[in-house]
Amino acid sequence: MSVKLTPRLDALAQQLETSDLLLDVGADHAYLAIHAVQKQIVKRALALDINQDPLIMAAKNVASFGLEAEIECRLSDGLAEVQEEEIDTVVIAGMGGHTIKAIIQASLSKAQAARFLLLQPNNGEEKLRRFLYSQGFIVKSQGVVNEKKHFYQWIKVVYEGKPREIDRFYGAYGDPLKHQDPDQTVAWLQWESQRIEKILSGLKKSKTKNAREKKLRENLFKLNKLANELTIHQD
Ligand SMILES: C[S@@+](CC[C@H](N)C(=O)[O-])C[C@H]1O[C@@H](n2cnc3c(N)ncnc32)[C@H](O)[C@@H]1O
Repeated sequence: MSVKLTPRLDALAQQLETSDLLLDVGADHAYLAIHAVQKQIVKRALALDINQDPLIMAAKNVASFGLEAEIECRLSDGLAEVQEEEIDTVVIAGMGGHTIKAIIQASLSKAQAARFLLLQPNNGEEKLRRFLYSQGFIVKSQGVVNEKKHFYQWIKVVYEGKPREIDRFYGAYGDPLKHQDPDQTVAWLQWESQRIEKILSGLKKSKTKNAREKKLRENLFKLNKLANELTIHQD
């Protein structure tokens, strides 16, 4: 019996590479770890979580698939309880960008040693990307996935050692022209444009529009331009 992944987790699973150990930080149900071991993408996995309750559920799921020998469920705030020699593939997904940033910041040398970090923030992408680049990490590949009418960005990051400054737009959206799935990307750019338009129409009623409105309009212009570029390339 195989574990069934949601589209978001499935998109993340597709980014995994063959390795010895998967460190799933904030594993919750541990489905990604279970899938990665079942499909023999990784030999073993650590399902890490800061909370006891998700870990109990993770352990139950692991046991129901008979994978107790391959997947250890470990209580850990981020990578705190992971040994340096255990560092390999790291996934931190399904939480706010601020939390992901805090986890990496608290264990910087471990994050630097990772084969790669597969990150999927639910929000706060701009600050997360700007932090990563400022610390010498670089995005190797990126994409978006749609689940239940929401689009999620994911990034695959490695440590390069050269700190860089990136602008706000790149921080928030990365480089959509480099995404693997142009159709999905165009849908995401349109979804994001509609989200911004809604915010702008709300601002019209408020007296506090100004710098925020300017930034949102700039983003809207760039997002529409990117969507057009991608659509033209496909024709
Ligand atoms: C919404 S779940 C996401 C589960 C899974 N990663 C996914 O993408 O479906 C977030 C999980 O992260 C855990 N978490 C939050 N902060 C954490 C931290 N600092 N270290 C480890 N786990 C954390 C929570 O307890 C929760 O189980």
